[in-house]
Amino acid sequence: MKRIGILLSGRGSNFQAIHRAVERGEVQAEIACVISNVPDAGGVAYAREKGLPVHALSSRGVPRAEFDQQVIQILNDAGVELVCLAGYMRLLSKDFIAAFAGRIVNIHPSLLPAFPGLHAQKQAFDAGVKVTGCTVHWVDEGLDTGPVIAQAEVAVQPDDTEDTLSARILEQEHKLYPATIQAILS
Ligand code: GAR
Repeated sequence: MKRIGILLSGRGSNFQAIHRAVERGEVQAEIACVISNVPDAGGVAYAREKGLPVHALSSRGVPRAEFDQQVIQILNDAGVELVCLAGYMRLLSKDFIAAFAGRIVNIHPSLLPAFPGLHAQKQAFDAGVKVTGCTVHWVDEGLDTGPVIAQAEVAVQPDDTEDTLSARILEQEHKLYPATIQAILS
């Protein structure tokens, strides 16, 4: 069984989708650890409830390189082979990328390279595009810049608001991310 690590900063709905897929046997992997840089993130509570190994470390005020060394250590101790960023709202240091070269993936709520960075759904909505979606990509040192692995499209409806559009993108994220992780692992 491959060992995956989840990094998150927030509610963790993508992490939950991955966990459910693991439980159903659709992702053949073990969630070896969950790490949050925000101690009271929703994803931390979910991980505790499910009895998963979880590490809640505040990154506030900690230099990036120092914080990332702690995370690298936890991932290595847990024997993690693939690192899955799931709403992890921090850029990774050079050392982190080097430690897990070619083994870090992320999900982003737009069709990259369009609309990188924060509030991608709002960026797409405000731009008036007819189609947006979500992307799973390899992670490099840039902000949502690594090579694309898989994408799912979502059509923007005339009566959409930013919230309804975001909800439909999230639904696709929850399908695309587990399926792509499984494809990578197999
Ligand atoms: C998701 O929409 C994810 O695509 C996005 O953060 C949200 C996290 O939600 N990630 C990025 O914007 C990365 N640049 P979740 O905590 O419910 O999974």
